[in-house]
Amino acid sequence: TAPGLLDQYGRRATDMRLSLTDKCNLRCTYCMPAEGLEWLSKQAVMSAEEIVRIVRIGVDLLGVRELRLTGGEPLVRADLIDIIAALRSNHPELPISMTTNGVGLDKKAGALKAAGLTRINVSLDSLHEETFTKLTRRPFLDRVLAGVDAAWAAGLGPVKLNAVLMRGINDTESPSLLAWALDRGYELRFIEQMPLDADHGWTRRNMITAAEIRSLLSRDFVLSPDPRARDGAPAERFEVRRRVAGSAGPAGPALGTEVPDADGPVLGTVGIIASVTEPFCADCRRTRITAEGKIMSCLFSREEFDLLGLLREGASDEALAERWQDAMWVKPKAHGMDHTGLGAPDFVQPDRSMSAIGG
Ligand code: GTP
Ligand code: 5AD
Ligand code: SF4
Repeated sequence: TAPGLLDQYGRRATDMRLSLTDKCNLRCTYCMPAEGLEWLSKQAVMSAEEIVRIVRIGVDLLGVRELRLTGGEPLVRADLIDIIAALRSNHPELPISMTTNGVGLDKKAGALKAAGLTRINVSLDSLHEETFTKLTRRPFLDRVLAGVDAAWAAGLGPVKLNAVLMRGINDTESPSLLAWALDRGYELRFIEQMPLDADHGWTRRNMITAAEIRSLLSRDFVLSPDPRARDGAPAERFEVRRRVAGSAGPAGPALGTEVPDADGPVLGTVGIIASVTEPFCADCRRTRITAEGKIMSCLFSREEFDLLGLLREGASDEALAERWQDAMWVKPKAHGMDHTGLGAPDFVQPDRSMSAIGG
C-alpha cells in the first residue's frame, strides 16, 4: 500500500483542507484589509473538474480520510453545490465538511445537505450588531444567525461555531456567547488570534490567550476536560457546567464555602484553539490546497508546491501524488511561534493572509 502523506517527523496527513476561492464578502479585521485583496483571476483558480481530480488523488492514492472545504468564503463560489455533488458521487463515505462565514447559508443549507455535505462550521465572533459589524466591517449579523439556524435545521449538524477573540472588542462577551451557543446546542470554539492578518497588525499583547479565555469563562462556567480523544484536532474540548452561586470563582473558594462545581449537569462542550500559546503541531494531520492549487504543508509553511500547474501540464495521477508527497515530506516541525508563546523573536509572519491560505 502507498505510504500516504508522510513527513520527516513521522506525522501522516489524512485530513485535507481545500480552498475553493480566495474571495470573501466580509472583511474581518484579523484576516483582511478593509479594501479587500487583489483577487485571483478565474483562470488562476482551480476549476470544479480540477478540484474533483485532486481530491480523488488524495483519497484514492494518498490516504486522505476527511475533507474540509474552505475559502476565502466557499459560499461565494457559484458552482459550490455541483462540486460537492461530484465529490460525494466519487466518495460515498468521505466526511466532507465546510468552514463558512455563514452569509447566504440560510438560502443554501438545504441544497448543501442534499448534495452530500456532511457538516458545517460557521464563524461567529459576536452577537451584538455593532461589535459584529466592527469586526467584520459588514452589517450581516442577522444573515449569519439565520444561516446557522438553517444549517442546523437542514441536518448539517453538529454545528460548530468559531469565535476569534479580540482584546477590547469581543473578549468580555465570551461568557454570554457561550451561554447562547449552549442554549441552542451549538459547539462554540474560541480561537487565539494568529498572525495571519493582511494588515500585519497582530501583536502578542493584543492576543487573547487560551489561559485568559479559560479565566473569562470561569466567571459563569466550570470547565473540565472532555474525555473524548482529541485526535489531532486544533480544538481542545471541555465539558461545561454552570458555576453554582457561592462556589469557587476565579479567585478560589470563599472562606467556609464548599465547591459544588462538578454537581450541575453538563450543558455541552466548548473548544479552545490555542494555536499560539499551546500549539498542537506535533499531532497535526492536515494538508492544505490553496484556491490556486498550491500545496501548503502547514498554515505557516514558507514553501508552496504547485500542484495545479503540474496538472495542467498533463501530469499523471502518480506524478501528482508524488509532488504532493514531496511537499508534505518537508512540512515544518512547528510554526516557530514557540512553545510558550512568549519568545520567538525570530518568528516571521507569512506573506499570505488567512483568506489566501484557506483557514
Ligand atoms: P473540526 O473538525 O470541525 O473540529 O474542524 P477544525 O476546527 O479543524 O476546522 P475549522 O476550519 O473550523 O478551523 C478552526 C480553526 O482552527 C481555524 O480558524 C484555525 O484557526 C485553526 N486551525 C485549523 N487548522 C489549523 C492548523 O493546521 N494549524 C493551526 N495553527 N490552526 C489551525
Ligand atoms: N487567527 C485565528 N483565526 C483566524 N481566522 C481567520 N483569521 C484568523 C486569524 N488571524 C478564522 C476564522 C474562521 C477560520 C477559518 O479561521 O474566524 O473561523
Ligand atoms: Fe472572510 Fe473568513 Fe477572512 Fe473573515 S476570516 S474575512 S470570513 S475569509
